[in-house]
Amino acid sequence: MANKEKKDGRSRRELITLGSAFGLMGIAGLGSAGALFKYMMPVVSYGTPQKFLVPVEDLPDVGDEMIFDDMKVVVRRQTDKEVAAISLVCTHLGCTVNRVETGFLCPCHGSQYDSDGIVVGGPAPKTLPWLDIKIVPGGQIEIDTGTSLPENSFFEVA
Ligand code: FES
Repeated sequence: MANKEKKDGRSRRELITLGSAFGLMGIAGLGSAGALFKYMMPVVSYGTPQKFLVPVEDLPDVGDEMIFDDMKVVVRRQTDKEVAAISLVCTHLGCTVNRVETGFLCPCHGSQYDSDGIVVGGPAPKTLPWLDIKIVPGGQIEIDTGTSLPENSFFEVA
């Protein structure tokens, strides 16, 4: 009997042990790959879409910007009539980006965006969202932080 088990140079017990070891290594490898894949995928959550109002007379001057820290939005006035709103939520993992001379910089993992929010460096997978703006009665604009429009989405306010 012992000779039969050793016919190919390994006993049945050795083969079962070897098979189990490879099986466990395979399961561990799949688990690690799954964890790595999950880590690599952006998990940005913009939360509940929120809208906020800004009186037209409070908008920045032409060529200027105004940052709404609590809403994580920068409002840019392109011309006398055109304004835009850009989200300050990093498209990597959701940190708030800072406005810097060259554009926007994320303090968390170093993503860099140009002044239009287009990614120029770091792990961010896409452009900062440009947000929808509507004119509402009472001389105000409504900015919707739950929208995501292409860059250079300006809206007429007058
Ligand atoms: S959250 Fe990671 S680079 Fe901004």
